[in-house]
Amino acid sequence: MPSLLRCSVTMSETLVSVLAIDGPVGAGKSTIAGQLVDRLGITRLDTGALYRAVTLAVFREGVDPADAEICAKIVQQSQVEFDQDGTVRLNGEDVTREIRGADVTCLVSQISAHREVRQVLVHLQRRIASSGEWVVEGRDIGTVVFPDALLKVYLTADIAERARRRAEQDSVTEQSLVESEIRRRDISDSTRIVSPLRQAEDAVVFESTFLSIDEVTDRITRLWKERCEQKDGGEG
Ligand code: DC
Repeated sequence: MPSLLRCSVTMSETLVSVLAIDGPVGAGKSTIAGQLVDRLGITRLDTGALYRAVTLAVFREGVDPADAEICAKIVQQSQVEFDQDGTVRLNGEDVTREIRGADVTCLVSQISAHREVRQVLVHLQRRIASSGEWVVEGRDIGTVVFPDALLKVYLTADIAERARRRAEQDSVTEQSLVESEIRRRDISDSTRIVSPLRQAEDAVVFESTFLSIDEVTDRITRLWKERCEQKDGGEG
């Protein structure tokens, strides 16, 4: 039986090509992933939206968010669906706007730090992106979820610039409030014990403080095409 198992792993590796984008809040991951979808015709998975949707499920149940087992149970029982237009559904209900609200934003780092919750969601992410070409954005995509990704990108920018972009995106005038919220989530996402935010050793790093989003997308597009050609050449 072990040889059969090995065979199925090899097959799924060749059936899926992943472009992993990791980085902190406001580094431009979502905008760039959206542009890559348009340019490359690949499918997108926003794993931050996944963590947000299950956080909303936990919040609605009113359970203790520190109780990892109860949180994981709720996550396991929740059905999250994504449309390519960005619509997110939780148990059939459109929650696209609600998952971006303050209740979820305040709670999401705590819920996503639970090992039990991450186990369920890592498994789900691998099942969703099990064949085809995907751009997957998050915090641990290149390090944990898809360590064999065809291309790993780590995006960053200084905190003031990230706060400026996020405030503009959310039409918030008080940039200093946005900055302190980002600082809080940066610390929590990068210091948690399970799958903290960090750059994969083989990631291509883009420090985008002084680069436009279009420039970054151009460079990633070129890199992706090169990697795909190398892969196709290697297989042929
Ligand atoms: O990308 P975002 O800001 O919407 O993500 C919300 C939170 O979800 C983020 O603060 C940390 C968590 N997250 C995670 O732990 N792992 C991921 N792969 C994606 C998001």
